[in-house]
Amino acid sequence: MNIVDPNSAIASIDWNDGSLRGPGIQQSEKTLGQLQAVFKDGEAFAAMDRTQVVYRVQWLSAEAADREGALLWGNTTLEPGKVGDEYFMTHGHFHLKRDRSEFYATVQGEGMLVLMDENREGRVEKMKAGSLHYINGNVAHRVVNTGPSQLRFVACWPADAGHDYGTIAEEGFSLRVVSQNGAPVVLRSNR
Ligand SMILES: [Fe+2]
Repeated sequence: MNIVDPNSAIASIDWNDGSLRGPGIQQSEKTLGQLQAVFKDGEAFAAMDRTQVVYRVQWLSAEAADREGALLWGNTTLEPGKVGDEYFMTHGHFHLKRDRSEFYATVQGEGMLVLMDENREGRVEKMKAGSLHYINGNVAHRVVNTGPSQLRFVACWPADAGHDYGTIAEEGFSLRVVSQNGAPVVLRSNR
């Protein structure tokens, strides 16, 4: 048996875009129609193609995903675009296990990481190629693409963190990122 196995890597990452290649990689996509609740401008939304893909996710589980201590690795590709004056964004979530934290790292594009704690205190971090972001447990997170091209980022998080989309569906985030005179502006929002 070879102690050094040249083919032992679990997968390969193309660092040009963060994409994963290898066996067992899972994928999903979100269309605009699945994100209706997150955008403010219902009239603008109604005029758009609901079938267009807003973002795609790839992720890789290296072991039983429900084992406490297991990690997941993934990446997201968020398309550029707007609904009215509001930029395309991910659904956003708290973790079901609130104390589970997460890393995001931007590969390409420009955007904002919108963060909100359970008291609805919000803030944003600017995302650009090379920016590394640490998301504490108990903090909801959403990514907004404020640039003219795809925003791509990689992530690493505890496999048992889970996703609580329901709280965001009911209460929304306390901040929205909109385009004003061609530049992104962060506004307070009651949902
Ligand atoms: Fe997360």
